[in-house]
Amino acid sequence: MAEEKATAKTSVLLEETRIFEAPKDLAENSNVMKWMKEKGFKTEREMRLWCSANYIQFWGEMAKTYADWFEPWSSTLEWKPPYAKWFVGGKCNVTHNCVDRHAQGAKKDKVAYIFVPEPTDQPTQKITYAQLEKEVNKFANGLKSLGVVKGDRVMLYMPMIPQLPIAMLAIAKIGAIHCIVFSGFSSGGLNSRIMDAEAKVVITVDGFYRRGKPLPLKPNVDEATANTPSVKNVVVCKRTGVAVPMKEGKDIWWDDLVAGKSDACECEKMDSEDRLFILYTSGTTGKPKGIEHVHGGYQVGPAQTLHWVFDVKDNDVWWCTADIGWITGHSYIVYGPLVLGATSIMYEGSPDFPDLGRWYKIIQDNKVSVFYTAPTAVRMLMKAGDSWAKKYDVSSLRLLGSVGEPINPEAWMWYRNTFGAGKLPIMDTWWQTETGTFLVSPLPITPLKPGSATFPLPGFNIDVLDEEANPVPLGSGGNIVSNTPWPSMLRAFYRDPERYQKEYWSTYWDIRPGTYLAGDKAMKDKDGYFFIQGRIDDVLKIAGHRISNAEVESALVSHPKVAEAAVIGKPDEVKGEVIVAFVILRTGQEETEELKKELAKHVRTVLGPVAYPETVLFVKDVPKTRSGKIMRRVIKAKALGKPTGDLSALANPDAVDAIPLI
Ligand code: WT7
Repeated sequence: MAEEKATAKTSVLLEETRIFEAPKDLAENSNVMKWMKEKGFKTEREMRLWCSANYIQFWGEMAKTYADWFEPWSSTLEWKPPYAKWFVGGKCNVTHNCVDRHAQGAKKDKVAYIFVPEPTDQPTQKITYAQLEKEVNKFANGLKSLGVVKGDRVMLYMPMIPQLPIAMLAIAKIGAIHCIVFSGFSSGGLNSRIMDAEAKVVITVDGFYRRGKPLPLKPNVDEATANTPSVKNVVVCKRTGVAVPMKEGKDIWWDDLVAGKSDACECEKMDSEDRLFILYTSGTTGKPKGIEHVHGGYQVGPAQTLHWVFDVKDNDVWWCTADIGWITGHSYIVYGPLVLGATSIMYEGSPDFPDLGRWYKIIQDNKVSVFYTAPTAVRMLMKAGDSWAKKYDVSSLRLLGSVGEPINPEAWMWYRNTFGAGKLPIMDTWWQTETGTFLVSPLPITPLKPGSATFPLPGFNIDVLDEEANPVPLGSGGNIVSNTPWPSMLRAFYRDPERYQKEYWSTYWDIRPGTYLAGDKAMKDKDGYFFIQGRIDDVLKIAGHRISNAEVESALVSHPKVAEAAVIGKPDEVKGEVIVAFVILRTGQEETEELKKELAKHVRTVLGPVAYPETVLFVKDVPKTRSGKIMRRVIKAKALGKPTGDLSALANPDAVDAIPLI
């Protein structure tokens, strides 16, 4: 394995001087280079600038290239900030583009998914496009038999098994709207989302495998649906065979639902702007936001970016290691790759089961060629050392990617050296649940700097602004924004238009309406390279997962012994951040070590393992503003031994002194 020598400081981002050019053959033969040559663009910069300046024309062309339409659109974009409509009047269905057209064409016997179960004694399964079509249709007919119709919300709460994309595609095919809740959320998280979405049906499994052990999942659904009158049926897919209670008349096994159903099903002809899914994500308050995406625009963005950024071609084996419960999985395990007719790995389990060699082995055994993962996983594998990698042959890889949080230059270099034989480019893709697809990212022709997501992609107008909406000069930082709409952007929050307007559009509304505030800080270095620096709001990134401080705090306060809580993120070598909770107990409660453990467990029960607090500490008071807002920034600074800044706005400055170092 070629070792690359560090030639500059590795962690002071804006002093990054290393530049890594893309391998010549990769760049020359890339999908994006082919397009550039066809259009006569000489340089990457010229191409990026043209596509962004002419973004409406550009996306119009991309929408025709990547998707088939039942009826053409009459207008490419109608933009009445903050509401965009793309491909207006067009008729389509994303499942047609993901499944039917491949299954009925030359790709019918091509493998869509290589499913790798977590238990090592279960064989890998290959699912072709033709098989996928049959399964999707049978399940779509099953859902119809339960009375699911266009516009109904269907909740999915499942591990990473093929039935999850099958269910998503079936729901989309009949025009219903899917809402996936990551299976690492508990019944509480599931319940609040079911209530908000007023779901008609919930789809789940009996149980799932966690580090080789079967664990039940269905009981969480029973708890979560105890008080949800909208839910008529729960469909249960048998995965582990663990015994679970089934309620007569309400619960139905997946196999029974599809038994005898026809394997033919017509697509519902959807309007471009009809909703495809709602995905809940964390904002600054405790209440998750239901982000809405639509058929028309969303079938274009992920496919186009996957084709250009990850250069996915017909003979590639693509592996995105995310869970489908998050946007990364929606866009890059399900919709993007399937629209392209690609072959994807779908892995059920954790990277360290049965040992830390598992991912390398999956790459080796399946000749994975393009690999996309998160910095937290890279750091975990880096910590475990190179010996695991050395046991396996990962030379099938030709391109790498990263997503979810900033990737430290050290981890970037290690990733490039270990997975990438010291030469493969890393596509550091910056985006969000809201954006549906990458916004700032390298292309396989871009000279890379470790830790930088490089430049806005073609078709986007992303910039970094100061408070007055001026673009910041090179070498400084500010708020990352989008100046123009794009096809796969969120359309709204489910039934909460005010919050949609407030969270993304209000900051610059008076100066320049229609400026999308992403919620991240970013810097541009002297060459214009973007370095994303994290959230401007109170949102945690735990192992790349988005959790709001307020959500964890309300989970703590829901415990009968807790009066108040303040939650901060503490930097962590592997997970990026871990949760530290400062808890004020109710009068008369004793501060014991047992209670700390009980509270951490309580959060896990309410929100799920993703939100487990690493440390719980008792305090008598937390610093607040005069209007009663908890000053998490001050708490964090004090707890980490950093300067706390001006405390004059606080109602109770003494509370700061009592915050312990962590
Ligand atoms: C937030 C969105 C969409 C991918 C999965 C997470 C952070 C995402 C990067 C990156 C630095 C990143 C941002 C963003 N983020 N990708 N390449 N570099 N930060 O989706 O849960 O909606 O979180 O993840 O803070 O706002 P999400």
